[in-house]
Amino acid sequence: MKKFNRTLVTTALPYANGPVHIGHLAGVYVPADIYVRYLRMKGEDVLLIGGSDEHGVPITIKAQKEGITPQDVVDKYHNIIKDSFEKFGISFDVYSRTSNKVHHETASEFFKTLHEKGEFIEKTSEQYYDAEANQFLADRYITGTCPHCKSEGAYGDQCESCGTSLNATDLIDPRSSITGNKPELKETKHWYLPLDKYEPYLKQWILEEHKEWKPNVYGQCKSWLDNGLHPRAVTRDLNWGVPVPVDGGEGKVLYVWFDAPIGYISATKEHTPDWEKYWKAEDSKMVHFIGKDNIVFHCIIFPSMLKAEGSYILPENVPSNEFLNLEGDKISTSRNWAVWLHEYLEEFPEKQDVLRYVLTANAPETKDNDFTWKDYQARNNNELVAILGNFVNRALVLTHKYFDGKVPAAGELNDFDKETLAEIPTIKAQVEKNLETYHFREALKEAMNLARLGNKYLADTEPWKVIKTDEERVKTIMNICLQISTNLSTLMEPFLPFTVNKLREFLNIEPLAWENIGENVIEVGHQINKASLLFEKIEDTTIQAQVDKLLATKAANEAANKPVAPAKENINFDDFMKMDVRVGTITEAEKVAKTKKLLKLTVDTGIDQRTVVSGIAEHYKPEEIIGKQVSILVNLEPKKLKGIESQGMILMAEDADGKLSFVSPDQTVKPGSEIR
Ligand code: MF3
Ligand code: ZN
Repeated sequence: MKKFNRTLVTTALPYANGPVHIGHLAGVYVPADIYVRYLRMKGEDVLLIGGSDEHGVPITIKAQKEGITPQDVVDKYHNIIKDSFEKFGISFDVYSRTSNKVHHETASEFFKTLHEKGEFIEKTSEQYYDAEANQFLADRYITGTCPHCKSEGAYGDQCESCGTSLNATDLIDPRSSITGNKPELKETKHWYLPLDKYEPYLKQWILEEHKEWKPNVYGQCKSWLDNGLHPRAVTRDLNWGVPVPVDGGEGKVLYVWFDAPIGYISATKEHTPDWEKYWKAEDSKMVHFIGKDNIVFHCIIFPSMLKAEGSYILPENVPSNEFLNLEGDKISTSRNWAVWLHEYLEEFPEKQDVLRYVLTANAPETKDNDFTWKDYQARNNNELVAILGNFVNRALVLTHKYFDGKVPAAGELNDFDKETLAEIPTIKAQVEKNLETYHFREALKEAMNLARLGNKYLADTEPWKVIKTDEERVKTIMNICLQISTNLSTLMEPFLPFTVNKLREFLNIEPLAWENIGENVIEVGHQINKASLLFEKIEDTTIQAQVDKLLATKAANEAANKPVAPAKENINFDDFMKMDVRVGTITEAEKVAKTKKLLKLTVDTGIDQRTVVSGIAEHYKPEEIIGKQVSILVNLEPKKLKGIESQGMILMAEDADGKLSFVSPDQTVKPGSEIR
């Protein structure tokens, strides 16, 4: 085994076109954070690198949709993401961003070096171009009919109806989504990295020398390598990104997947002038934490780039997770189907560790997994509260009760005491083995076994009974319980950093090193503090509120996808002219007693003041509509509703989810003005 003297841990840079959600956390950031916290506790030299990925087409599309600049988009989300990671305890040594200067310079230099070394191929090809918008169109900017399933609105790179990946030129009847025009084909030059050149090297390096990589990672790499690699364009016709820094590069930028991984280098540079040691020394170990959609970029393309440059090390491992679903459906930023970290932090204050725990215990390490709020509640109540919290609480409370909170001295140990203590180093070794091989859920399970051990020890020794007859024996029991609690405060630190802070406060101790686990470090006579609960039970109502929130999202999505009502049959002009529609002003409004939906309105129609009963009480409060100008059909036959004669009808616009709005003139007009 190779001996490493420092570790560089990178985490996939999240796109700054939305906040981060539990899928990102479970797949990348929580496991990476556990890993580096563990290494730091062992006294190792380790850096955790992160940042926002701020280039690429999804960001320009978002900006266009919202009518703001791409920089506005990334500023907004970078800040939300950075802040939420910090509050969640992802212990980045640096969290940077790819729109900053250091990164532009670093990526630019990297490209120039490869260019000067002659590592690129230049090729001209035909790409779709929007003449009116005066720009080439990225695949995502072209929509048309899918050649496979014939559904409309397929993108130039993929049909979201049937899932087929496409080339923009495959689309039937392509349209530019900027102007709606039919795009034309135009020649453009791009720089390509000949991945085929690195294929023999990659085959040896991955397929022969890294058989220990996770099966999902190894398998994807093998399939790419077996299919044969081809030159890949590393530039794009786009005006958002790192400009191509060589002749002929005007109006072009580096492909986002070329610049983003270089972001790891830029961020390290920002953090320390000593950055090269982490990136170039043979005794440095680099580990990329990513999600499964990033595998090819981190195992094939980025390594080829680093190899082409020549002075960098390659990753030692690329622990990639599968996906986490939410309540049975794929997490989706655009459909708002997610638990957003910044919202969780607000709605569940002080409960970072509960989410960290659940996401680790249920991590999608080997297959896609499902997050459900019921499972979140169950793991909190049945594991954190009932196992870990319960043990620690009993150990502390009993010590206060019997010994005024002073650590009692252990007498002679019996076999059961010895066996119990002997378990601790065994558990430590299990946790280590699993952490070092990136099996985080197994590591957490082993760590929880120490709390289980504590509970079992208490249940078997029953100090609350023994105290009546043998106080000396209880001293030994409580001493052992406090040793276990102290060990928990160390063993749990990578997983539950907020909880162990609390626990150390209760125990009145300083943080310990990983190597202290299993040693008897808590001194006889040491005074512990009054304890409160480490975890609290989560009630059904809290969980139901979250489930309801998701149900509302589902309903909103369904409404948004519901087609508008089909057009009605044509009518003639005379039919239309029979309707007498006027602008009226609401002068009085009150609820109709014993109904939920009805308001009784008085409307100044210009012709008269009349009473209209209208089914809008769930949408408007009486006091907020006085003075409002509305459209009213005045020649509708009067009708009695709840005993009130309604003389006419207020016209309302109704959208797909049933929300009602008045149809009002956009400036004040005289009541009685005709609408036609
Ligand atoms: N932004 C990409 C994603 O979310 C990940 C970029 S990782 C990096 O899928 F290597 F490019 F930085
Ligand atoms: Zn299709």
